[in-house]
Amino acid sequence: MTAPSTRLDVLERDASLREPGRLRERSDALDWLDTCLALGVSAAGDDAVLRQRIEALAAELQAVDDALSAQIRQAIRRGEGAQALRAWMAAAASGPDADDSSDRYDHLDNLISGVLAIRESPGPITPLDQGMVFYQPTPARHIFDALTRLALDEHDVLVDLGSGMGHVPLLAAICSPARCIGVEWQEAYVASARRCAQELGLVRAAFVQGDARQADLSSGTVFYLYTPFDGDMLHVMLDRVAAEARSRPIRLCTLGPCTERVARESWLRPVGACRPDRPAIFHGR
Ligand SMILES: C[S@@+](CC[C@H](N)C(=O)[O-])C[C@H]1O[C@@H](n2cnc3c(N)ncnc32)[C@H](O)[C@@H]1O
Repeated sequence: MTAPSTRLDVLERDASLREPGRLRERSDALDWLDTCLALGVSAAGDDAVLRQRIEALAAELQAVDDALSAQIRQAIRRGEGAQALRAWMAAAASGPDADDSSDRYDHLDNLISGVLAIRESPGPITPLDQGMVFYQPTPARHIFDALTRLALDEHDVLVDLGSGMGHVPLLAAICSPARCIGVEWQEAYVASARRCAQELGLVRAAFVQGDARQADLSSGTVFYLYTPFDGDMLHVMLDRVAAEARSRPIRLCTLGPCTERVARESWLRPVGACRPDRPAIFHGR
């Protein structure tokens, strides 16, 4: 394939792509440049020149993203992460992506991936027991949407049951004054999340390795479930959270297929829309 040099001309001339805030447009451009390279701008003849231009522009745009991530990481270390991410959080709640209920990943996930810089820790991945769902992170715009609507305060303790590499507790600790706990079966994911919390100085984010069925839930005020379990395991966990709800007010935030099952629990009351493709919020009755 030969890249349409007219589009390349346009992108090269578009100074706005170098503005940090034009994340979505840069992300689209980078996707297109990657596709051109992947689909085979050959290293011969005129294509070699075209390839160099594509690689140079991709490197230039990536450097803008990297600088933006580095700036936000510094703000987080200074304790100013909530302010640094506020505009992105607001855009996720009310911008053009607010109605995107798909589970696709987008430019916000690229940003968060650069900001958290989570690296997969070496170490074996333990086989999952029956009912455990494999790892998939919550798309960033859904995390921001949930955090906006939950409005966690300093009395809240968010517990992500099946926290994977920790995106939800980490972002909650950055964007709110709450204490945030992740409970995760995979030791390697817990190690990755802990390292990220340490590198960013997130003292209110903690990660516990183990089976959520045995986890200490006694401090939680908000429980988050991105469909980490199904079948009997989900049933057992909901019974455990219901037992906690008898002693204090709690909220549950769910995403994905588990929402339908959670919505059938008589001890919970949905707040607002209750759809599997957007974070749903429930209060204990
Ligand atoms: C769909 S992922 C959600 C990850 C994370 N909550 C997020 O939203 O980014 C489900 C996670 O739950 C974990 N998991 C499944 N069953 C578990 C259990 N019984 N105890 C702890 N973690 C569990 C899996 O290892 C996986 O990382």
